[in-house]
Amino acid sequence: MKIRNILIVGLLLANTLFAFTGRVPVYAKNGMVVSASQIASDIGRDVLKKGGNAIDASVATAFVLAVTWPQAGNIGGGGFLVFHPKKGDVTTFDFREKAPLAATEKMFLDKNGKILNHSNHDSLIAVGVPGTVAGLYKAHQKYGKLPWADLVKPAVELAEKGFPLTWKIYNDVTRYNTEELSRFPTTINKFKNKNGDFYQPGELWPQPDLAATLKRIQKNGHDGFYKGKTAKLLAKFMKENGGIITEEDMAKYEAVERKPIHGNYRGYDVWSMPPPASGGVAIVEILNILEGYNLKATGHNSALYLHLLTEAMRRAFADRAQYLGDPDFNKNMPLQMLTSKDHAKKLRAGIDLFRASVSDSSRFNQAFDEHNTTHFSIVDNEGNAVSLTYTIEQWWGSKIVAEGLGFFLNNEMGDFNPIPGYTSSRGYIGTNPNLIQPEKRMLSSMSPTIIAKDGKPVLVIGSPGGRTIINTTLQVILNIIDHGMDIGQAIEAGRIHHQWLPDITKYEKWQLSPDTRKLLQNMGHKMVEKSGTQGRAMGILIDYENGVLSGAADTRSPDGGVAGY
Ligand code: GLY
Repeated sequence: MKIRNILIVGLLLANTLFAFTGRVPVYAKNGMVVSASQIASDIGRDVLKKGGNAIDASVATAFVLAVTWPQAGNIGGGGFLVFHPKKGDVTTFDFREKAPLAATEKMFLDKNGKILNHSNHDSLIAVGVPGTVAGLYKAHQKYGKLPWADLVKPAVELAEKGFPLTWKIYNDVTRYNTEELSRFPTTINKFKNKNGDFYQPGELWPQPDLAATLKRIQKNGHDGFYKGKTAKLLAKFMKENGGIITEEDMAKYEAVERKPIHGNYRGYDVWSMPPPASGGVAIVEILNILEGYNLKATGHNSALYLHLLTEAMRRAFADRAQYLGDPDFNKNMPLQMLTSKDHAKKLRAGIDLFRASVSDSSRFNQAFDEHNTTHFSIVDNEGNAVSLTYTIEQWWGSKIVAEGLGFFLNNEMGDFNPIPGYTSSRGYIGTNPNLIQPEKRMLSSMSPTIIAKDGKPVLVIGSPGGRTIINTTLQVILNIIDHGMDIGQAIEAGRIHHQWLPDITKYEKWQLSPDTRKLLQNMGHKMVEKSGTQGRAMGILIDYENGVLSGAADTRSPDGGVAGY
């Protein structure tokens, strides 16, 4: 059997041609920010230069992204922050959105039990109570060094004076998403000048309502968003347009500091986000399964390598669907068991080296989601690291901007399981842990992660992309630990995605050779070319030996960039 394995590995490697170009990382000595907007990275870097720490830079970067990358950067959504201090315990902040008090288990269903007009995504009741401002404020209260108002200031100024409109925003607004963004005049008008014409690429694009909202946050912190004018305007808009978020929902929202998920992989510590994020558990589970194989020997993106990845992904995503949800509502989630080496060993035992297994659709089922989110990574000159992913769920969230507020509202309620008990091959999942309840946080795939060695962070990484987030983040980690790539190559390399059900493996166009695909098909994998690319990873590697940081912003992210000093 062993000789047969070796022969097959050799054959697979010989037939594998994987085309990725890699890109040169950006290097710096002291501190670095990598985000989906070069402007946001530059401002985060300036905060570091002025003596701010990684948390300070996170606050500034996140608020600027809400101005310069409004498709996903936000104050109207929620997310997760993983903080690895130079010294001391790793911690996390959960600022995931919550279901409003008036939410009910079947709120999106018609009388036949079917989802009414995509209402779990395309409606005002799809908006969860936003968490971003609370999370940033809480993290800053505990760990920030520079004054809060100074950190919000750059975002206020950019919203007030405007910044050169990027082609990406312009194209999304005027070519790709015009119809959806036009449902509410308050939304589409955000992109038009006094004459009613769209701002043009390169022209300064001011956002006066957003500037006013940010100013209230700058002045009054958490309460500047969750109480007073912002909360009132939001509640009024909701009431007038059929939404359900009230001033009470806003006033009750609090972010939570939580214990991180911890695993280890080939001598590295893996620190990531616990539920209601599923990414940490899934990544540790997949890494534990893969630790039993010599991935270096399989070769990067060889058929055997991708087979093993797919089988590990399949199993972790099944567990995700079965067990995970908001920990405040699911007290007995078996997190220890799911992230244990023993569990991985049992799962590994079911993997055939030469055949794809079959996902059992009679259990429960989930659709692919390609939703949008954004990630940034930061390291400061003391060696503190932040990995932060936040989201408004889909591209532009609900595509709704409330009167007078200027920011996009999320449609995160779509991340709940919409139909209790109903699981179908069309892609619904109805398991209990993630059913809608008032004040519950919806399950997320976000996976802000920090890899450490000897107690010090060495890799800060994460990505947007709905459920693909987990697998994108995972593959960058493997590219570095198992394949020895630099951060540019690791982020640029082609990726695959399998999420148990539907039982298909998606690959990025031009990133997997026909020979490799054929080998995988012969093993029983259903290979499907993905439309578009997978994820937009943002990462930083820390090389202590040479005292150098290297960072890369995914070229899949058109406005992204690295800033270091
Ligand atoms: N909305 C994407 C996620 O939280 O996974």
